[in-house]
Amino acid sequence: MFDNLFEAYTLNATLTLKNRILMAPLTRCMADDDLVPTEAMVAYYARRAEAGLIISEATIIRPDGQGYPNTPGLFNGAQIAGWRKVTDAVHHAGGKIFAQLWHTGRVAHPHFFSASGTTAVMAPSAVSVEGSVPRMRQLTYQVPTPVTDDDMAQLVADYAQAAANAIDAGFDGVEIHGANGYLIDQFLHHDSNRRDDDYGQTPENMARFPLAVVDAICDRIGNDRTALRVSPGAYFNMAADSRDRPVFDYLLSQLESRELAYLHIGIFDDSMTFDYLEGTASAYVRKHYANTLVGVGCYSADTGSAAIADNKFDLLAIGRPFIANPDYVAKVRDNQPLVAYSDDMLTQLS
Ligand SMILES: Cc1cc2nc3c(=O)[nH]c(=O)nc-3n(C[C@H](O)[C@H](O)[C@H](O)COP(=O)(O)O)c2cc1C
Repeated sequence: MFDNLFEAYTLNATLTLKNRILMAPLTRCMADDDLVPTEAMVAYYARRAEAGLIISEATIIRPDGQGYPNTPGLFNGAQIAGWRKVTDAVHHAGGKIFAQLWHTGRVAHPHFFSASGTTAVMAPSAVSVEGSVPRMRQLTYQVPTPVTDDDMAQLVADYAQAAANAIDAGFDGVEIHGANGYLIDQFLHHDSNRRDDDYGQTPENMARFPLAVVDAICDRIGNDRTALRVSPGAYFNMAADSRDRPVFDYLLSQLESRELAYLHIGIFDDSMTFDYLEGTASAYVRKHYANTLVGVGCYSADTGSAAIADNKFDLLAIGRPFIANPDYVAKVRDNQPLVAYSDDMLTQLS
């Protein structure tokens, strides 16, 4: 029934996936207090190695990128060693795994990183996001400090170093988290980018920092091992603005020539439509980007398989059902019933 999901898929000369089902990146807030992956995380990822590719939970590139408790890092030796146990276990079980590289920008909170010696929340512009850290109501979001040219140069260097660390830790590649209203996405939307220098106002300027990160990582670890997640439709930590459309038109045209491993839509429900994209986020990207595309967002194996058959995207990422069903791939293949996801499952890794 879902035969196309079980076809092997060649991303490029370096990487072939054994099937088209990806495990979507899922933040679980279960790293230890030094942001090192735990033994429970080793077992959690290894149990899901039947996926064609696992994308790790978002992993911070440096201390001031942290916006949630106990999210893992990839910026010191202990973290690299902790991830090495995860990647070894996934490889031993026959899987492949990319690290998702993350800086939360204005969604960061100094509560998590003030001990590292800085309290500044960094973002394109001094525009805060509404509200507070989930389930930590006393931690209201701060007005960020607009990044300087030097800050951006350092951030680009830190992204590239985190990508090199990911390769040292045994990851098969990295997915740059350019979605969901975090730092890179904050440059691409007018809601969060009010700059009037070389990084604001025009599509070319607003895409400059995101493309600098992509290029620095491709230079460091190869474009064949570099992927990107984007959210052209503002839906999370971000207000919509129709002026964002030309920014993404430009970004997508530039990305095509980079020949990344894949491009991944950042969305929770891909049936959501955006006026300024004239439809869904995935349909918009498919129209403006010719290379490998990963779709995601409230798909079942059934609807995801049909979307691939209809050429809406090439690979299907599955999030919440993979939390509820570690053996998701086997259950789909064998036509077994799935356990329904519930938010209660987030309190424990299994
Ligand atoms: C608990 C939870 C944590 C998530 N963490 C991340 C994350 O770390 N990085 C990311 O890009 N998306 C994250 N997402 C979004 C998922 O990758 C995915 O886009 C979303 O769950 C929709 O897919 P689904 O309907 O198959 O669950 C998260 C979603 C959930 C439910």
